[in-house]
Amino acid sequence: MDDSVNENPRHAEVHHATDQDVSAIGALMERYAALGNVLPRTVDDIRRNLDEFYVIEIQSRVVGCGALEVFTPELAEIRSLMIAEDYAARGLGGRLVEHLIGEARTRGFKRLMALTYVPQFFHKWEFETVSKDALPEKVWGICVTCYKFNNCDETAVLKYL
Ligand SMILES: CC(C)(COP(=O)(O)OP(=O)(O)OC[C@H]1O[C@@H](n2cnc3c(N)ncnc32)[C@H](O)[C@@H]1OP(=O)(O)O)[C@@H](O)C(=O)NCCC(=O)NCCS
Repeated sequence: MDDSVNENPRHAEVHHATDQDVSAIGALMERYAALGNVLPRTVDDIRRNLDEFYVIEIQSRVVGCGALEVFTPELAEIRSLMIAEDYAARGLGGRLVEHLIGEARTRGFKRLMALTYVPQFFHKWEFETVSKDALPEKVWGICVTCYKFNNCDETAVLKYL
């Protein structure tokens, strides 16, 4: 088969992460945390929370990931959304976000949020920029433990499902 067919993002597969995906997720995390695009998470943290992670694969290579973290029975968060640089701008980040929105709906969440440096990306999927005060579950449950708590420069975005 022609390789260009397999490389087509439409042939990318999204699935729940497994143990085999931990090192690829860790490599994406190391890269984008160093660039300051995402908050760092250790390989131990990824492994402990593997149930939350989804990966996107092309030709059996993990080229991106994203996590769906649960806060309350009605609020979930998209975290650790990353696409490998050599696969960027091909629609794969969008595919992952659509998958995570679908999962969140199927699981009965009413609201889906993210804290991000790329709010415009999320606006394409009808997330709205909101004040962090609109998300007390997140801010007072998790952010208080973050080293950026007193000078958080991320933007909160929220979508009603
Ligand atoms: C943000 C990221 C996930 C986007 O993935 P991607 O596969 O390159 O994005 P896509 O190709 O699916 O883009 C889909 C749409 O979003 C837009 N978009 C992509 N990145 C964007 C950005 N940084 N800012 C604004 N819009 C963006 C694209 O232009 C495209 O719009 P179009 O359909 O009108 O052309 C990827 O650039 C990445 O991994 N960045 C580093 C980590 C990061 O910042 N993650 C977000 C943490 S919450």
